[in-house]
Amino acid sequence: MPIEPINPPPRLLMGPGPINADPRVLRAMSAALVGQYDPAMTTYMNETMELYRAVFRTENDATLIIDGTGRAGIEAAMVSILAPGDVVLIPIFGRFGELLREIAERCQADVRIIRRQWGTVFTPAEIEAALVEHTPKLLAIVHGDTSTTLAQPLEELGALAAKHGALLYVDTTASLGGNTFELDAWGIDVVTSGLQKCLAGPSGSSPISLSAKAVAVINSRKSVEAGLRSDGDPVSATPIRSNYFDLSQILDYWGPKRLNHHTEATSMLYAAHECARLIVNEGIDNAVRRHRTHGDAMVAGLAGMELTLFGDQSVRMNNVVGVYIPDGIDGDGARRAMLDDYGIEIGTSFGPLAGRVWRIGTMGYNARRDAVLTTLAALEQVLRRGGVAVTAGSGVGAALDSYE
Ligand SMILES: Cc1ncc(COP(=O)(O)O)c(C=O)c1O
Repeated sequence: MPIEPINPPPRLLMGPGPINADPRVLRAMSAALVGQYDPAMTTYMNETMELYRAVFRTENDATLIIDGTGRAGIEAAMVSILAPGDVVLIPIFGRFGELLREIAERCQADVRIIRRQWGTVFTPAEIEAALVEHTPKLLAIVHGDTSTTLAQPLEELGALAAKHGALLYVDTTASLGGNTFELDAWGIDVVTSGLQKCLAGPSGSSPISLSAKAVAVINSRKSVEAGLRSDGDPVSATPIRSNYFDLSQILDYWGPKRLNHHTEATSMLYAAHECARLIVNEGIDNAVRRHRTHGDAMVAGLAGMELTLFGDQSVRMNNVVGVYIPDGIDGDGARRAMLDDYGIEIGTSFGPLAGRVWRIGTMGYNARRDAVLTTLAALEQVLRRGGVAVTAGSGVGAALDSYE
């Protein structure tokens, strides 16, 4: 039997990401390829750097994209900063804090962790106490952890890390563009992100920005690979332990030298460029406001159906909410009904929340009124058919009230 062309079913992706990509991003991805040293390509790379400086709110020269999904950026940051034996402090309040730990352990760093129960975040004092105790080279933390739907307040952490001699790394894969983030003003040294959440793109590209201090640390282990090395190029006795994610070489690839490294994933570069262009044109503050407006409407709709929200709502991300699965409802069966009958995907949960909490996103291209109202209307029907006593129209009505 011949294999048919890919023809995905129409879906409204209202989980914790990925979401439907903005059609303009998909269009950009179908643009013709150019060679990697074509002047047009150089222009697109430089524009991408400039656009992400605006998105991250930074003056950092070293602002670029890593080819790979969100965790590629995390891995590049960790493996380039942490030499084996270096102490890293990771405050964990959800699944993606565990991912940071996992990656740091594979870098053979000396990993120290502090934990918070899922559904809560750290106070600055708790983090400072751990900085005093462990004196790490790097403090690494997630901004918005989609597993719990909460956002760790970051405003004070840059100053605390600097006071105790640490660099600060933040993972904003799930939060950037939908929640306030100020790289320079908050004194953050390294940040990475992804496209598939609030930036309205597909996964596959990880924007990153590095302070001058972080670049100096990374370049202290710089080793130019043998086939590219010229006289005088550095060769380190303790080189960065990944070639693909070696930021010291990737910085030369994106910098004026344009020293060859990987072959840029051109279509993903186009996507990353368009994602940033769209959000910069919208205005970052406007995009954050849009996420808050539609996130609040979704929350109002869920509360209107008398569902119980998960976690400390005072620090909920704008773009995703966790909601307890009502008693008597089979969580996966209901998600399946949402998909089969309405073409709408909502999210399940991991770890301690598996089978107890759904996660519903309103992000990127789907941070829209029609997407919110359609999801609530469908969920109401699924719950009613499952025997939950939901007042007809209560979810959509409460969301409409929230918009007004
Ligand atoms: C906070 C956070 N960090 C990292 C990741 C991993 O990103 P990716 O799946 O793109 O590798 C995710 C994905 O959902 C995330 O939400």
